[in-house]
Amino acid sequence: MTVEQVNNELPTMISMVESLIESVRKIATELRPGVLDHLGLIPAMEWQINQFRMMTKMKCIFTAPDDLDVEFNKNETTHIFRLLQEMLTNVARHSKANKVEISAQKENDLFVMVVKDNGKGFMVADKIQSGSLGLMGMNERALSIGAELRIDSTPGKGTSITFLLGKK
Ligand SMILES: Nc1ncnc2c1ncn2[C@@H]1O[C@H](COP(=O)(O)OP(=O)(O)O)[C@@H](O)[C@H]1O
Ligand SMILES: [Mg+2]
Repeated sequence: MTVEQVNNELPTMISMVESLIESVRKIATELRPGVLDHLGLIPAMEWQINQFRMMTKMKCIFTAPDDLDVEFNKNETTHIFRLLQEMLTNVARHSKANKVEISAQKENDLFVMVVKDNGKGFMVADKIQSGSLGLMGMNERALSIGAELRIDSTPGKGTSITFLLGKK
C-alpha cells in the first residue's frame, strides 16, 4: 500500500475500530445477560456466585430466600446483576479475602443486596477522591434505577457493599 492509499483507507479503518469499541462496550455494560431471562434474578445470582466460587476457590456463602417477594423490571435486574458482577470482580482482584458473603433479601420496603469480604479493605474516601471509575460507575448504576450504594471498608478488616432499592 502507498501512503496515499493508507490515508484514503484511514477514515474507514477508524470508523471500524470505533464501532468495534462500541460493540464491546455494549456487550460489557448494556446487554442483558441471558441467565437473567432464563433463570430470574436470584437463581442467576446463584449461578454467578457458583462461577465465582469455581474460578477463585474462595469460600462463598449466599443467603437469599427461595421466594423473594419482590417484582423487578428488566432494567432493574440487569443493573443489580451487573453490580453483583462488579462487586465480585473487585473482591477477586483486590481484596485478598478468603471468604465472601452475599445476601439478597427484602427488609421492610427495601430490597437489600450485600457483598461482604474479609479481605484487606481500603480507604473509601481516598478512592472516591481519586475518581475510581469502577466505584463511580457502580454508584451511578445504582442511582440510575433510584437505588443507593453504601461502601463500607476498613483497612485490614474487609469491605462490605450494600445495595438498597425501595420496593413496596
Ligand atoms: N473488595 C475490595 N477489597 C479491597 N480493595 C478494594 C475492593 N474493592 C475496591 N478496592 C480498591 O478500590 C480501588 C478502586 O476500585 P475500582 O473503582 O473498582 O477500580 P479497579 O477495580 O479498576 O481498580 C481498587 O483499585 C482497590 O484498590
Ligand atoms: Mg473494579
